Amino acid sequence: MSHHHNRATFGSKIGVILATVGCAVGLGNIWRFPYMVGSNGGAAFLLIYIICIILLGLPVMITEFFIGRHSRKNAAGAFKVMAPGTKWSLIGYNGVLAAFLILGFYSVVAGWTLEYIMQALDGSLTGKTAAEFKLDFEQFSSGIVRPIGWTIAFIALTHIIIISGVKEGIERASKIMMPMLFLILIALCIRSVTLPNAEKGLAFLFNPDFSKISSSVVLSAMGQAFFSLSIGMGCLITYSSYFKKDTKLQTTALQVTVLDTLVAILAGVMIFPAVFSFGIAPTAGPELVFITLPNVFEQLPFGWIWSTVFFVLLALAALTSTISLHEVATAYVHEEYHISRKKAAWFVSGGVLTLGILSSLSFSVLKEFTIGGLIFFDALDYLTAKIMLPLGGMLICIFVGTRVDRKILKAELTNEGTVPFHFFNTYAFFMKYIAPVAIGLIFLNELGLINR
Ligand code: PFF
Repeated sequence: MSHHHNRATFGSKIGVILATVGCAVGLGNIWRFPYMVGSNGGAAFLLIYIICIILLGLPVMITEFFIGRHSRKNAAGAFKVMAPGTKWSLIGYNGVLAAFLILGFYSVVAGWTLEYIMQALDGSLTGKTAAEFKLDFEQFSSGIVRPIGWTIAFIALTHIIIISGVKEGIERASKIMMPMLFLILIALCIRSVTLPNAEKGLAFLFNPDFSKISSSVVLSAMGQAFFSLSIGMGCLITYSSYFKKDTKLQTTALQVTVLDTLVAILAGVMIFPAVFSFGIAPTAGPELVFITLPNVFEQLPFGWIWSTVFFVLLALAALTSTISLHEVATAYVHEEYHISRKKAAWFVSGGVLTLGILSSLSFSVLKEFTIGGLIFFDALDYLTAKIMLPLGGMLICIFVGTRVDRKILKAELTNEGTVPFHFFNTYAFFMKYIAPVAIGLIFLNELGLINR
């Protein structure tokens, strides 16, 4: 297959890991995870989240790596080469569409991080009370010009990296940003657990109250697992299409899963002690991170430096994820419509910009415009995390479980038998039966509740 020869690949092993971790680790871990934990009852949610990561996340991730490297195609193209002339490529379209929709609200939050970098630098975060932080956040996010301006700026940043290509853009950016993010998180956790009343926050995060578990908590935990690992929508298919033949797929999947989960838990350790220490409600929702963390930094000497560093890193974590989302759509448009990568990127950025502006406005003038009771921003989040990604993951497993010869699957996952896969049968069983059935049951259960 000659078209494989000039396709880009990541340059080094560490580049593969960091780019893929960069894709997985993002606002989902540091912004979305804590407020999901907060509004779904704390530790019980964390427990179900971890179960979802192990039972569903890991098998789906390995399966996506298989599809990507085996086909060496974009998310939709992969299904076209593996099952030509069938409807399976709908999985890919679902993914490309999900990437668009996620970017449509994700880039708004990413824009907020830029605003907070500015506020930290110009001293406007200094000397405020917890209530003032909350009020100021609400005022800012329900504004028009500033939040939209930052959203546009963030999409522009993403665009620039995307058009610089796979190796020079994505890989190089991730190699620098991810290790920095890790270090600063650890430092902030240490600060947070030494605040007064920190133990209440840790208990909220780690002491499960099983009476809090409901079908909507389970659906939320599953959605968060898919969102955080970037699975179910072909992002990892796209990235693994740039892996080399000797990249170890199982090891990479395990490393990415462990690191992603670790970052989410560390983010919880950083935020909940502060939430309880400052008497903020853990159920605050999307603004949780933006009101709690500046509060923590205020307690420190040179607070503005801490704030700046933190929001810079949050912006960087967001950026390594927005480029991965953008790449899903750009690679698809570029390869399937045979237009240049640059033109494809412009097309994607334009679409995302439109969605981004609408989501940002849904906190102000479009507040009354709701879909199923949710503002546009929340509707995009709900539709992607809770429906499109789990559905995509389920179909990916059914596709590989029923359409792919076990020998081919095993050969790809073991690099033609050169790396052992001790749990191959267990993996195959989970992928083929457990994951699709579990996802299906969670959907049915939630639907049942809606009808009651
Ligand atoms: N996993 C990213 C995060 O946790 O922030 C978000 C994301 C990136 C979701 C890429 C899906 C995706 F394809």
